[in-house]
Amino acid sequence: RAYLVGAQPQADMAALNTALLALVASLQPGAEEVARQQVAFEAVRRVLSQGWPQAQVHLFGSTANGLSICNNNDIDICLELPDGSDSLSSKGEVVEQMAKLVEEAGMKDVLPLPKARVPVVKFVVGETGTKVDVTVNNILAIVNTKLLRDYGAIDQRLLQLCFVVKHWAKRRQVNDSYRGTLSSYCYVLMCIHLLQQRAPPILPCLHALKPSTHRRTVGVWQCDYHDEVSSLEDFGAQNTETLAELVWAFFEYWAWKHDYNNSVISVRTASFLTKAQKEWTRRVGNERHLVCIEDPFELTHDLGRTVDRQTSGVLHKEFERAACILRDCADPLEKLFEPY
Ligand code: GTP
Ligand code: MG
Repeated sequence: RAYLVGAQPQADMAALNTALLALVASLQPGAEEVARQQVAFEAVRRVLSQGWPQAQVHLFGSTANGLSICNNNDIDICLELPDGSDSLSSKGEVVEQMAKLVEEAGMKDVLPLPKARVPVVKFVVGETGTKVDVTVNNILAIVNTKLLRDYGAIDQRLLQLCFVVKHWAKRRQVNDSYRGTLSSYCYVLMCIHLLQQRAPPILPCLHALKPSTHRRTVGVWQCDYHDEVSSLEDFGAQNTETLAELVWAFFEYWAWKHDYNNSVISVRTASFLTKAQKEWTRRVGNERHLVCIEDPFELTHDLGRTVDRQTSGVLHKEFERAACILRDCADPLEKLFEPY
């Protein structure tokens, strides 16, 4: 499994690209599914607006950033209360109240988790079978959903790469931050970062572009960046790499090129930082910093913090497995996405 410098995939890259594009098309949710999610969202919005007429109800996560894979029956919703009930205990109380309200409104399997790190109520919308997570004043998630959507509008290769990587991560069971692997949000940031690093770059650094047209302060975090992306549609045109080449680059990077000991990937700066710079060199509590991905807004937050010794080994092996399959197989797709 040794890494050969400059090794290239065996496969016919043009054929592989055609096959990957067909896969991406098959992973897009159909119109019916999108409509069903909208129905579920409206049903929840109606109920929450009765309880909190002054509040805003937002959809976030993959159903809002364009990266939802078909048959994903989950939606993420955030209740934004006007006068920030921001302490954890008051968020917990709101979660309890929401649980009562949605239960009375006929939602199924209602489960409040008021003491979670991010307090949440989980339930199912009966008519559509949609699983819903509702959080309170989860403003960073609303802002980072918008950032991902804005990057996605610049070059379609980002969405394509994210679909392939998310599909791979779900099939190989390395897409669960509760079990020590990485969240979808983290994989998307890894994809954005890769496209920022290509030469010439496929994506810009929206945090660095001036003027900062999106301005919002969330707690101690200044969440400013350039969001006028319609003028950036040709940004990546100088780079002619195909989806297949980028998929190879992604796995090659995470299998053999990433410096797991020292390096932090940062979409905010479109560069690499060091663990020393971030003071992520020591284990603090359960946070180990074995794979480091900086959150673009909450700068003390390492999205890889949930990875432990065992799961970091699992992840690294899965990246290597994918890279080896791409390098060595003439027709790699079936094996690449083989369920774990
Ligand atoms: P799928 O459900 O797998 O399709 O992916 P998703 O895009 O919905 O991502 P995920 O379920 O991992 O997370 C949903 C949303 O929660 C993301 O889009 C982010 O907005 C937010 N989120 C997830 N993890 C974090 C985190 O660690 N920190 C912050 N600030 N936001 C997060
Ligand atoms: Mg989700």
